[in-house]
Amino acid sequence: MFGRRRFLGLSAGTAVAAVQACGAPGREPVGPDSRMVRLAERARRPANARRVDIELRARPGEADLGGPSAPTWMFNASLPGPEIRVRRGDVLRARLRNDTPEATTVHWHGIALRNDMDGVPGVTQEGVAPGGEFSYEFTVPDAGTHFFHPHVGTQLDRGLYAPLIVEERDEPGRYDDELVLVLDDWLDGLSAGPDARLAELRREGMSMDGGGHAHSGGAEPEGAQPGPLGADTGDVSHPHYLINGRVPAAPVVNRARPGQRLRLRLINAGADTAFRVAVGGHRMTVTHTDGFPVESHRVDSVLLGMGERYDVEVTLGEGVFPVVAVAEGKGGQAMSLLRTGAGTAPVASVRPRELAGRPLLARDLHASERVRLQTGKPDRTHTLRLGLEPSGTYRWTINGQTFDERTPMPLRRGERVRLRFVNTTMMFHPMHLHGHTFQLVGGARPGPRKDTVMVLPKETLEVDFHADNPGQWLVHCHNVYHGESGMMTVLSYTA
Ligand code: C2O
Ligand code: CU
Repeated sequence: MFGRRRFLGLSAGTAVAAVQACGAPGREPVGPDSRMVRLAERARRPANARRVDIELRARPGEADLGGPSAPTWMFNASLPGPEIRVRRGDVLRARLRNDTPEATTVHWHGIALRNDMDGVPGVTQEGVAPGGEFSYEFTVPDAGTHFFHPHVGTQLDRGLYAPLIVEERDEPGRYDDELVLVLDDWLDGLSAGPDARLAELRREGMSMDGGGHAHSGGAEPEGAQPGPLGADTGDVSHPHYLINGRVPAAPVVNRARPGQRLRLRLINAGADTAFRVAVGGHRMTVTHTDGFPVESHRVDSVLLGMGERYDVEVTLGEGVFPVVAVAEGKGGQAMSLLRTGAGTAPVASVRPRELAGRPLLARDLHASERVRLQTGKPDRTHTLRLGLEPSGTYRWTINGQTFDERTPMPLRRGERVRLRFVNTTMMFHPMHLHGHTFQLVGGARPGPRKDTVMVLPKETLEVDFHADNPGQWLVHCHNVYHGESGMMTVLSYTA
């Protein structure tokens, strides 16, 4: 319901303006000027680029969560959907067929791709109608751990998500093997579903005070101290938490050999849940976040907001070890197992002691030298005040406006742009930028390169990026319920 409204008519004034500014009508009724976008992309494509062809079919089906079974929507009838694996510089061609009852799209989260393939209905394309098809085709410019999902309504809180792994053309190969672990909070098919939940949130409004926020999510366990995200970590209580589509009582078991150096690619595909992740009996070395390398950092646990990714390495001991992802501040958890030898599997509620201390946040990291932005002053700063207003409503805003009311923020190609996120609310917001990778600034040393960062309650946080990919690009909260309730806006530039 909520998604569909957006496809009726060409509401995107900014996109239409971009077409006119470039003076080329193009074939797409919505979207930036294709000719310019195509030329810009050609320049980034290596001479020996391969083309990888993928078929994606979004369709209702029954997901077996390892006990509970849930009617939902999935890509290619699997949960998570089919992993796409390409090499940096490859051309990915993905043909989407929509067999769901709603319009949909695919957004390639984390990829600095050509704007007209970004999958945002009303901004970069029209939604793909039920029964319709759309071919996405773009060069993949950067290696890293990414994922894809629809950008319509609450569809991400169904089963429509899958990893997109971009390998380096010559990976240094410090690790022996790797494993992709996708984390998710699950309610679809086991309750009224995400659209009903969103409608409910809007009806309730923000009934409670204490920062003006209803505590409708899973309760913090009695007596627990709030973690780095504060006391209020979510709006929705999901009955299950999953790693690679499984509840912890029926976990995925991955086999490996003791002594192996294993790279874990962690992806938070949740809608309303941050996950605190640890591997029982092991420390982890963080090597990348949101696809980009960082100075390696040894930790016990990491905290991933929705849309964030971390790559970590562990040197495996012998036995059976749980990988636990605790729903931060909510009480439940997801689990998978690593088996390198004999031993009894831990129970679903196991809490490795590695989870006890302060988890790593992105701000603790520093970009590897080769991906650092040069230090410099921004040519332009945009302030984004993250709000919940007026109080008593479920209306999440950026500078007082919901997405429907947005004033696009102008940029110019070639600028160094600073985004200053000012969080006026009592909740954290994982803010995600499309089409670019920013760098956290403000610390004594350059922060990590990322596309999604958690802005903590009442915090002001700044990021810089280079405006090198013209188009209409979303900046939004990756809490699906916040984004759908307004916390999204557009950065706009043509040349
Ligand atoms: Cu993963 Cu605009 O989103
Ligand atoms: Cu938010």
